[in-house]
Amino acid sequence: MTSIIDGEAVAADIRDDLQGAVDDLADAGARPTLATVLMSEDPASETYVSMKQRDCEELGIGTRDVELDADAPASDLLEVVDDLNADPDVNGILVQSPVPDHVDYRDVVEAIDPEKDVDAFHPENVGRLVAGYPRYKPCTPHGIQKLLAAEGVDPEGMDATVVGRSRIVGRPMANLLSLKEDGGNATVTLCHSRTENLAEKTRSADILVVAADVPGLVDGDMVGEGAVVVDVGINRVDADTEKGYELVGDVDFESAKEKASAITPVPGGVGPMTRAMLLWNTTKAASRQHGVDVTLP
Ligand code: GUN
Repeated sequence: MTSIIDGEAVAADIRDDLQGAVDDLADAGARPTLATVLMSEDPASETYVSMKQRDCEELGIGTRDVELDADAPASDLLEVVDDLNADPDVNGILVQSPVPDHVDYRDVVEAIDPEKDVDAFHPENVGRLVAGYPRYKPCTPHGIQKLLAAEGVDPEGMDATVVGRSRIVGRPMANLLSLKEDGGNATVTLCHSRTENLAEKTRSADILVVAADVPGLVDGDMVGEGAVVVDVGINRVDADTEKGYELVGDVDFESAKEKASAITPVPGGVGPMTRAMLLWNTTKAASRQHGVDVTLP
């Protein structure tokens, strides 16, 4: 029987476990607070940001909601970041990407105080992760680590193949899985658009993480017998539905399910974990900044 990994349930457990830490911090006068910054009229980005705000509110994490016109100068966004950096009541800053073309997202990320960088995108935090002493772990790969642990999968000694080398998912996922620490110690292959014989590399994986943003890239023929398959893709494809589209992953679920021992669905797999780990990082940020120790799940 293939196990369908329930990301909603694991994320709910993490949120429950985080609640105690958030309450302890609030009691100590150190309530975690996340600032989201949106500079986009893209409905998907607007939805993501409002979901992140709602997640915080449900746990009693404070929020700041900053919105800028998409045609405002880049300097306006950098000023907002400076103000949030200087605000002692704000522990985490998330600037939703993508930002408009006239803004260089790298400049924005580098402007964020690394202590408040709950996305873990700042080069200092990326560097610490690669060096093996992460401050914050990026939310999606960290969430996948937690999902594997909840499924009873210890990557130690396993062959893990990651498909996709993005800054947000693929590259940090490969780094995390190869770290010499719990949830790591795997032998990692990082594949991308120039990889030759992709199917050979995916088929030999005990753990297969697909984050390529290509709908249905990996089908059952590319999955090894008994592999654990994690599908990070969320692609809108045209469909005869009320909305005119449906969400599909990078993995062809039906055929991959026949080979996998466990597999994440889309939606309901990785997505909820990404959101839960943002709450986790925000709580950790408040703990660090206020010097109040709490136990994190
Ligand atoms: N856009 C898509 N995913 C993310 C994310 O994890 N963080 C931010 N800041 N923007 C995103």
